[in-house]
Formats: sequence, structure tokens, C-alpha cells
Amino acid sequence: KRLMSYNCILVARPEPNVALITLNRPKALNALSSPLFTELNQAFLELDADDEVRAIVLTGSEKAFAAGADIKEMQPKEYSDVFKNRYLEDWTLLTKTRKPIIAAVSGYALGGGCELALMCDIVLASPTAKFGQPEINLGVIPGGGGSQRLANIIGKSRTMEMVLTGRNVSAQEAEKWGIVSRVVGEGEGQVVKEAIDMAKVIASKGQIAVQAGKEVVNAAYELNLAEGLRFERRLFHGLFATKDQKEGMAAFTEKRKPEFTHS
Ligand code: CAA
Repeated sequence: KRLMSYNCILVARPEPNVALITLNRPKALNALSSPLFTELNQAFLELDADDEVRAIVLTGSEKAFAAGADIKEMQPKEYSDVFKNRYLEDWTLLTKTRKPIIAAVSGYALGGGCELALMCDIVLASPTAKFGQPEINLGVIPGGGGSQRLANIIGKSRTMEMVLTGRNVSAQEAEKWGIVSRVVGEGEGQVVKEAIDMAKVIASKGQIAVQAGKEVVNAAYELNLAEGLRFERRLFHGLFATKDQKEGMAAFTEKRKPEFTHS
């Protein structure tokens, strides 16, 4: 199968139905340059369109998931450049991906790196992970959604502390605060391994339900409660039109494993 080739990322298929994207600018600690983000968006578009892919793991290196937007690229920019060129506006494209994205974070997830992890659906952290929004040290503020997504997840006081002091948060603290779903055991590659295992579990389910599940949970961050409950119920109702609902419930009644056809 033809895989696109990229310069700043690597795309692999560690399991038949699981894709792995690795940020690959090791010399710059995976700083998120514009070319890198363009490739990342393209990779997510392609994987979303590929029927064989059911879940996507996104990772960096042991030392850095990503150390933020590329400061050397930003340094010469003027207000008129960033305004006219809608700088960072395209970062939200990957959040349109229907398939679940699991971030496997080791080392630094700072600034845009932290924001990229927050754009994923599930975040697993290695004990070495460090999350932070250090933009304040550069005379700016988060621009990739950090202030908004963190406030939704960890609340006002903790978000203010991160954004206004620039302090990094350890993996353990990030777990306690709910930035990550769990911290995995120590060891090189462990967080990627566990993310792939989790992706395999997701890939074994009925994919229409999986994608509906992702959509409703994300809606909780955009809609008010009444709208969100109505949206959830309607998607739930809609799943009764799928073969996977017939199969899943028949299998339960017949005490056997379901064989989902994703239809
Ligand atoms: N942009 C560009 N280059 C970066 C980078 C970044 N965000 N982070 C690291 N690098 C580069 C360094 O410049 C260095 O390159 P050279 O060898 O050419 O000098 C290389 O990566 C290795 O980095 P260090 O030598 O600094 O490594 P270290 O281990 O001493 O420190 C670090 C690691 C604490 C993460 C440090 O690199 C650092 O503070 N990086 C910047 C973190 C940051 O401020 N991120 C926020 C960026 S702003 C942003 O993201 C805006 C937004 O909201 C979207």
C-alpha cells in the first residue's frame, strides 16, 4: 500500500487497523514549524480517508513530544504577517478527524506541543512527560488553543497558574489534574506500546459507534447541557439503523462475541 512520504513526520502502520504518526524533527525537539503542521494535517486527512485505519496514535521522541511552535520561525514575524496569514488557524484542521487520536507523550509537551496533545482524544503519558505553556516567557500567550482547552479540562486556577507563570507540570500532576488519562510504566517506547494497545481495543469495536462516540464527547466541550444531551440521544437513536447494533445486541443475547461489520 502506498504511503505518502513526509519530511517532518513519519507515518507507519504498526497494526493492520492502527496508524502511528511520529513527529520527526529531533534536532529541534519536534518544534511545530508550519511545514510540519501542514504535513500533520495532510497525514490526518489521508488516514481519516483510509478505511483500513480505525485509530491513530500520535507521538514524538523520548525527549520531546513537541517543544512548542517553532520560535525561530515566529521571531521575525510582525502583527500584519500573522494576522493576514491567519497564523495557527490551520492547527484546528486535525480536530476534524473522525477517527480517534491517542497522544503518546514522552518528555516535553510545551506550548504548541501541550496544545497538540490537548487536541487529541486521549492522552497517555510516560513518567518523563512534562506539560507546560511557557509562552509567557517569550512575551506572548498560548495561540494554539491552550488557554481554552486547559480551562475546560483543569479549571481556571490551574490554567491561570500554567499560563501566567509558565511552570511545567509533571506527568503525575497532569494525571491528577486530568490532562492525561493515565501515566504508563517506565521504559523506552512503553507509552507508544500502550497507546497502540489501546488503539487496537478501539479498532476491535464497531467503527460507526466509535466515531459517533468521539463526536458526542467532543460536543460536550462546545454545546450547553440541554443541546448536548439532545445531540447524544439523537446519535444514539441513529445507531439503531446500523447492522452493528443488530449484531452487538444479538451477540450479547446469544452469549457470543460480536462480529462488527462497521455498517
Ligand atoms: N522552537 C524552535 N526551536 C526549538 C524549540 C522551539 N519551540 N524548542 C527547542 N528548540 C531547539 C533549540 O533551539 C535547540 O536548537 P539548537 O541546537 O539549534 O540551538 C534544540 O531545539 C535543542 O533545544 P535545547 O538546546 O534548548 O534543549 P534543552 O534540553 O537544553 O532544553 C527545552 C529543552 C527546555 C524544551 C528548551 O528547548 C525550551 O525551552 N524550548 C522552548 C519551549 C517553548 O518556549 N515552547 C513554547 C513555544 S511558543 C508556542 O508554542 C506558541 C503557541 O501557543 C502555539
